[in-house]
Amino acid sequence: MISFGSIRGVSAPVLRLAILSSAVFALGPLFPASGSALAADGVLSKDDQVCLACHGQPGMEKDMADGDKLSLQIKGKEFAASVHNAIGCAACHSDIDLAKHPAPGKKKQSLREFSIAKVEVCRQCHEDKSKLYEGSIHAALLREGNPMAPLCSDCHPPHAVRAKAAASGPIDEVPCRKCHSAVFKAYAQSVHGLARAKDSNGGAPSCADCHQAHDVVSPSSGNQVKDACLGCHYNALQLHKSWLPNAAHHFEAVSCPACHGPAAPRRVDLRLYDNGTKARVTEKLGVPRFESLARLADSKGQGIDALALQSLLKEFNRDNVDGDTVLRGRLEVDGGPEAHLLAAKGKAIKDCNFCHREGATPFQKVTISIVGPDGRPLRHGAQQDVLQAPTSIDSVRGFYAIGGTRIKLLDILLVLALASGVAIPVGHLSLKWLSRRYLQKSGDKQAQDPGSNGSNKNNS
Ligand code: HEC
Ligand code: HEC
Ligand code: HEC
Ligand code: HEC
Ligand code: HEC
Ligand code: HEC
Ligand code: HEC
Ligand code: HEC
Ligand code: HEC
Repeated sequence: MISFGSIRGVSAPVLRLAILSSAVFALGPLFPASGSALAADGVLSKDDQVCLACHGQPGMEKDMADGDKLSLQIKGKEFAASVHNAIGCAACHSDIDLAKHPAPGKKKQSLREFSIAKVEVCRQCHEDKSKLYEGSIHAALLREGNPMAPLCSDCHPPHAVRAKAAASGPIDEVPCRKCHSAVFKAYAQSVHGLARAKDSNGGAPSCADCHQAHDVVSPSSGNQVKDACLGCHYNALQLHKSWLPNAAHHFEAVSCPACHGPAAPRRVDLRLYDNGTKARVTEKLGVPRFESLARLADSKGQGIDALALQSLLKEFNRDNVDGDTVLRGRLEVDGGPEAHLLAAKGKAIKDCNFCHREGATPFQKVTISIVGPDGRPLRHGAQQDVLQAPTSIDSVRGFYAIGGTRIKLLDILLVLALASGVAIPVGHLSLKWLSRRYLQKSGDKQAQDPGSNGSNKNNS
């Protein structure tokens, strides 16, 4: 079998002549492997067949400067079956002039560098998708130099690009799988994965239905995923309202998988939030403030405690002129794969006591977070007692989970609120107010730091 890697010494014109005369016109026995390229005879243009006469051969390689080898074999059959069969090789390789090809060009450093340069061509015809991609977490990772960040060609193998319907088809074929294998495994066992494995047209979501395919963002930085859930389950809020008081508030403060992934470990994430800009606080590129402040506040490495949390917040408020930085709590699943283990509705958490009781497990792990420069969250552990310490009334305002706070008065209030049934929407406001008064009082008594009196800045 012929290997161009081994005959690179032969001058290009001679090589070209030999190949073209035998492979394209004579289909000579000299090139048994050329059959695969020519199988697609009916579809591919003469020009493409010329390219494939060489590139259809196995074993062709090009050396990269770093020592890696690039396989130059293109499978003609796959290309003939791809969406790009009509535009042909030249549409994406307009830089190749057959009269001079193959010419020993400047060596690329690595396979990655070669891919990054070549993939630029997609933009010429798919401007819209390229724009969406530019705003994604994946593109941000690419700009940071992350060698695992997916390019167009990682999700759409460029010589075998299939139609959208196929790219979002059967679950084993989702392009996300190869890099997010742990998440994929969990998803495959979920209600959605199982339903999709049975019927890929049944409406159950694939990765891109919840995360988008091109403008993928970090799911914890916004509402993209929740909006996707509610886009399909459009009556979910109505249905939850029938048994869950103030369901809308629960949808804000509890992530969907925290109840629908019954076996998942959970945590409370306290997110730095800017009341001025009405958005989560974002770390600026090159100014790694959060991590250094958090490390300073947590000198023993055992998690930030209530007092340290208060001074951390103060630090963030020092130069915030537009508003104030607060913490917003969210009960969520602790770990990416676990967020995908969604079970049938009968298994979802319905028991109020699961969360609203003294020492409830979901409140035993606490993190503080900020949005990192690439959109992914930066987290630092906090001690569990930041949720109930009187000194942190001000810091964690807006997140007193009844029972989670272990403050008895709140438990009593919850029972009252439950007993009053329909009055809950009104009840919960007074509940919040009362609890604040209560916390403030006990705070005044116990706080070492007079700063904790500031809770009347409350804006709920
Ligand atoms: C005569 C055989 C032959 C033909 C015909 C041929 N190529 Fe090549 N091609 C090669 C060889 C050999 C190399 C490796 C050159 C090197 O080592 O730099 C190569 C390299 C390439 C590369 C990667 C190298 C780079 O730097 O970009 C691309 C892309 C490519 N060819 C596309 C094409 C296309 C498109 C056609 C048809 C228009 C074509 N080739 C026709 C032999 C051929
Ligand atoms: C839709 C655009 C597109 C079309 C059409 C296309 N290519 Fe490519 N080609 C690319 C991209 C992008 C790469 C870089 C792939 C990578 O990351 O290694 C590439 C790489 C190559 C390489 C280098 C080896 C490799 O796999 O990276 C060869 C050889 C090549 N193409 C030949 C062909 C031939 C022959 C045809 C027609 C049968 C063709 N290409 C059609 C976009 C295209
Ligand atoms: C992380 C994987 C991923 C990356 C990176 C990616 N795509 Fe896609 N793309 C998909 C998936 C999955 C689909 C099908 C599902 C969908 O569109 O929702 C798709 C669909 C498409 C479609 C058809 C969509 C339509 O609505 O007609 C085009 C065109 C496309 N991609 C081009 C690109 C281009 C160009 C790039 C690079 C700028 C790119 N893709 C990067 C995963 C990806
Ligand atoms: C020269 C123009 C051109 C270039 C360059 C090009 N494409 Fe395409 N692409 C097309 C055309 C034309 C179609 C077919 C559109 C159709 O059938 O609706 C298409 C279709 C697609 C589809 C399927 C769309 C669908 O609706 O199902 C995907 C995915 C895609 N291209 C990805 C890419 C990727 C990735 C690259 C870069 C490796 C690329 N394209 C480069 C012209 C181009
Ligand atoms: C070529 C590898 C690759 C492919 C393919 C890929 N990703 Fe990623 N993705 C990464 C890397 C690397 C990261 C950053 C590390 C991490 O968070 O896992 C990332 C991050 C993410 C994040 C943000 C995670 C966070 O911590 O906030 C989401 C969401 C995501 N990818 C979804 C997808 C989806 C959906 C697809 C398919 C349409 C996909 N990815 C395909 C490599 C890939
Ligand atoms: C406090 C826990 C909790 C939260 C938070 C929660 N759910 Fe549920 N959900 C449940 C329980 C329990 C059921 C089953 C109710 C029943 O059957 O009586 C359910 C039922 C459902 C159903 C099936 C509805 C039906 O009757 O067919 C869907 C769909 C659903 N939830 C989606 C969501 C989405 C989307 C979110 C996030 C926006 C969410 N849930 C948040 C606990 C929760
Ligand atoms: C039903 C909607 C849904 C589907 C389908 C889905 N995800 Fe997710 N994904 C989520 C939710 C919800 C989260 C967690 C968001 C949160 O609470 O912070 C998440 C989180 C992630 C993360 C971030 C993990 C981390 O460490 O924080 C990645 C990466 C991811 N998903 C990739 C994928 C991939 C790949 C697929 C397909 C195999 C997929 N997702 C399918 C809803 C979905
Ligand atoms: C693309 C539409 C789509 C999206 C997005 C989506 N789902 Fe679903 N979901 C479905 C379909 C369809 C089913 C029914 C699957 C089956 O046939 O069993 C389902 C089933 C469910 C069930 C089981 C209901 C039951 O009756 O047992 C729950 C719970 C659920 N989804 C929650 C969610 C959550 C939470 C999210 C977001 C993280 C989400 N879904 C996103 C379409 C969607
Ligand atoms: C998975 C955990 C979880 C479950 C299950 C749960 N809750 Fe909650 N609940 C929360 C969290 C977290 C908050 C928000 C606390 C905050 O924002 O300060 C909350 C808030 C509330 C509030 C106060 C609302 C407000 O606006 O201040 C009431 C009342 C309440 N829940 C009642 C219930 C009842 C009744 C049930 C059972 C039918 C229930 N919850 C189930 C976690 C849960």
